[in-house]
Amino acid sequence: MCGIVGYIGPRDATPIILNGLKRLEYRGYDSAGLAVLQNSHIEVRRDVGKLARLATLVEGSPVSGQVGIGHTRWATHGEPSARNAHPHLGMTGEVVVVHNGIVENFLELREELSAEGAVFNSDTDTEVIVHLVERYLSGGKSLAEAARKAFAHLKGAHGIVLLSSREPDKIVAARIGNAGGVVVGLGEGEMFVASDMPAILEHTRRVVFLESRQMAVITRDGLALQGLDGRHLEYQVHQVSWDPIAAEKGAYRHFMQKEIHEQVRSLTDTIAGRVDFEKGRVRLPELNLTPDVAQGIEKIFITACGTAAHAGMVGKVLIERIARIPVEVDIASEFRYRDPIVDEGAVVLAISQSGETADTLAAMEEGRRKGARLWSIINVIGSQAMRIADGYISMQTGPEIGVASTKAYTAPLVDLYMLAILLGELRGVLDNKTRHRLVNDLRLVPDLAGQCLDREPQVEAVARALVHTKHCIYLGRGINMPTAYEGALKLKEISYVHAEGYPAGEMKHGPIALVDREMPVVVIAPRDPWYEKMFSQIEQARARGGTVIALATDGDEQAASVADHVLWLPETPWMLSPVTAVIPLQLLAYHIASLRGLDVDQPRNLAKSVTVE
Ligand code: F6R
Repeated sequence: MCGIVGYIGPRDATPIILNGLKRLEYRGYDSAGLAVLQNSHIEVRRDVGKLARLATLVEGSPVSGQVGIGHTRWATHGEPSARNAHPHLGMTGEVVVVHNGIVENFLELREELSAEGAVFNSDTDTEVIVHLVERYLSGGKSLAEAARKAFAHLKGAHGIVLLSSREPDKIVAARIGNAGGVVVGLGEGEMFVASDMPAILEHTRRVVFLESRQMAVITRDGLALQGLDGRHLEYQVHQVSWDPIAAEKGAYRHFMQKEIHEQVRSLTDTIAGRVDFEKGRVRLPELNLTPDVAQGIEKIFITACGTAAHAGMVGKVLIERIARIPVEVDIASEFRYRDPIVDEGAVVLAISQSGETADTLAAMEEGRRKGARLWSIINVIGSQAMRIADGYISMQTGPEIGVASTKAYTAPLVDLYMLAILLGELRGVLDNKTRHRLVNDLRLVPDLAGQCLDREPQVEAVARALVHTKHCIYLGRGINMPTAYEGALKLKEISYVHAEGYPAGEMKHGPIALVDREMPVVVIAPRDPWYEKMFSQIEQARARGGTVIALATDGDEQAASVADHVLWLPETPWMLSPVTAVIPLQLLAYHIASLRGLDVDQPRNLAKSVTVE
């Protein structure tokens, strides 16, 4: 996952940046670099591969100065290579930038800037930022103003840090949306900036967290905070704990809340390195998937437990729709006991955050015994589910500490979407135009997730209304039926409220008898192909006196007119709608549990990794 570190002060920036980046290594990356202002001149060192290579490069070609920025990169646009690694220097050599996130409109911006004469030296989306800043600097703006004007062009969610030799006494840092955090560390006569606290904790415990659409102009003696509209803002200094685990929690009350908010970044990282937006292609190299293998697959069995199994249910819809391969989803604890009809033409695809879940591993072994090819989608690199598989996809979400899985639910949804596209292409069932459109839609995902997170206060208000409820039904249909299961699971496991997820069409076959005034019904009704059917569910629940909480797409007045509460969703391409639809449900469960004063991160009776049958 991309990481950022910056320093301004009396000391040499280079070792501080290299050490800071080292502390972010656990997040994963494929290239690294730094830029330091040396004798009024910006020097950049960057290379593909691990930090040790960057350190060797710096040893061979030393660079030192009192202001600098560094970055570890997971490729999103352009392959991992030295030329695509950050920092990116502009044409004048006077501005340099590092960036986390995806510039959604980078193709348009690149065209516009190229027409103005900008020359691009990388395949990255990030490079448009530095050209934009230069455009405004050359028009006579100050660095802060030029940066602010440049940021106004960017669509998507971003963490950006830059510096310029024109104004060597400052670093500019900004956060737009939720592409991970930007934290400024306050020292004595020196200042730090980073994407994550571990990078700067050895230097300071006094920090300022940037909110979305805020920009900090950092000098060695302090910072000035402003909104991206130019308004001056006050800031609050937080004193972070000495306990490194607690410190990681940052400004959040619980890890679960932090991890829900990390999803913009984890989704960016999930896409990172796997998508070529220009060619409309997906790459999943660790899966070892050749055209021959893809064409030989007769059936896929997805096997997993709990939340991971719900992701698998979405995967079934995606793979069947996009790649036209039959898919069965098996709860892992059932798979091996039903003597499934599995042979060499089958793939057993296990999904597991921990990669150590006993039932999931046993299901994989059953697949192996019967001659199937084994794939896994895992979060923990080196876990058993990764090691015993013939190929794997890593979730790239970073560690998940809260027991209730959140970011490790949305990441595999995107992995399965990418897998479906790849399979569809290799099997020749996906035409060029559709493939380009499906790949292109991936660009929108991080920002759409961010828009869901921005609505947290509305979700919290609904949580307040439901805080004393004893039961809850969640209804979904089609690709969002698993969203109902997942919403209900989140609520029951952390708030101990009895909750049931149900396929909406099944209501009339029994469960509707439960609906009365005491029964909240959460109806998941985004504008997907099942919308009309879901809408009639809202009316049915309403007719029986149930409190209806509708999950509806922005502007859906019809849903708003019949529901008691609405959780609004941004318009999302329907095959990716499970990613956005689940976020308000995660937040709803979180706030109900938190308002009840429960131990959200470690709910009773549950463990993060279930290594027994
Ligand atoms: C629910 C949750 C569990 C896990 C399940 C599988 O929030 O976290 O249902 O999804 O125990 O765990 P992994 O993915 O590690 O195999």
